[in-house]
Amino acid sequence: MNSFAFHNPTKIIFGEGTVSRLGKEASAYGSKALLVYGGGSIKRTGLHDKVLAQLQEHGIEVFELPGIEPNPRLSTVRKGIDICRENDIPFVLAVGGGSVLDASKAIALGVPYEGSVWDFYEHKATAKAALPLGTVLTLSATGSEMNSASVITNWEERRKLGYLSPLAFPRFSILDPTLTYTVPRDQTAYGAVDMMTHVFEQYFNHTKDTPLQERLCESILKTIVENAPVAQENPNDYAARANLMLCGTYALNGGMISVGMDQDWASHDIEHELSAVYDIAHGAGLSIVYPNWMKYVYRERLDRFAQFAVRVWDIDPSGKTEEELALAGIQATRDFFRSLGAPSTLTEVGIGEDRIEEMAAKSVSFGPLGHFKKLGQEDVAAIYRLSL
Ligand code: NZQ
Ligand code: ZN
Repeated sequence: MNSFAFHNPTKIIFGEGTVSRLGKEASAYGSKALLVYGGGSIKRTGLHDKVLAQLQEHGIEVFELPGIEPNPRLSTVRKGIDICRENDIPFVLAVGGGSVLDASKAIALGVPYEGSVWDFYEHKATAKAALPLGTVLTLSATGSEMNSASVITNWEERRKLGYLSPLAFPRFSILDPTLTYTVPRDQTAYGAVDMMTHVFEQYFNHTKDTPLQERLCESILKTIVENAPVAQENPNDYAARANLMLCGTYALNGGMISVGMDQDWASHDIEHELSAVYDIAHGAGLSIVYPNWMKYVYRERLDRFAQFAVRVWDIDPSGKTEEELALAGIQATRDFFRSLGAPSTLTEVGIGEDRIEEMAAKSVSFGPLGHFKKLGQEDVAAIYRLSL
């Protein structure tokens, strides 16, 4: 096990009806707030009214930034930064899925910074200050509610880049599983795929002697496998939605499940290039790319892939070699994603081979990808081709 430091300052308020705590929590950060949300789901569900009532009840003046896109765009983030500066707003409140939360983090980081907020994402500058941020999550997937990451798309340049800053941890996140009842079947699938791949990115490593971390990862994976189909069949199943929500939060919250282990993240970079160019849902891209990354790298550590097959997918090890087990585990992963209705090939989502070289070149612009097996441009292109 590697040495590590772990610190996560986000306060999680979990359970049905917890939006009633919003006003009090938000009032700790001043008397004005920028309310950031997406394309309208929070209006259709009535959550927008509840949020406004909470803020107004606590004397908070509300400014609004609606219209955050899935794969949130830099141009919209800039609008939020302008509104905060023009109105001297001290606090950002994100109400929505990962895209809304990520855009809000970028706004919070961008307001006190004199240059372009994109500098952070291009590794040209490090944030030194940020506005405080609170969130109300409406989609279980990214873990953004309890982590320091945000991923923003510069659509003009077709670049999607992530940035981690300890200043971007939300001060609080309200996690009410009933707010995810209206998440459609496909987004429920993409969310489940996303959280599973967050665990994979941490689980497939070369670090030795980490039995607790491995079992934490495996237990999250099994819990997602059990609950995602239930949530799809019965969207209002509280237990299934609550279990998924907790899995998403634990899967990527600054490393709680993977302290002391190396991590990979090549597949996420490979997917982000797809979203940047084709604007596909992140979870859909991962459903295509991840099993092919596994196929490309599994020989690096047959024992871990065999363990994954046995412990997560309950594949009977008797009479099988480690390689057979590894391949069976990869196939089970692919089959599960497909059973949720998530895609398996680029062709299915209308993507051909014409821009593979361009995406592969951009993906390694900051250096080779991953740690489990370092991937150069040719490797990335090969994984895209396996995914066709
Ligand atoms: O925009 P609205 O109208 O709200 O609709 C959204 C959107 O169309 C809808 N939705 C959200 N909650 C809903 C709902 N519809 C009905 N009922 C609800 N309760 O779902 C659609 C997708 O929303 P989005 O926020 O884009 O999805 P998700 O949470 O999967 O976020 C994806 C983004 O997060 C980034 C991805 O790259 C992508 O840009 N990621 C962020 C990470 C992080 N911050 O740690 C890590 C991830 O690996 C990921 O890269
Ligand atoms: Zn992800």
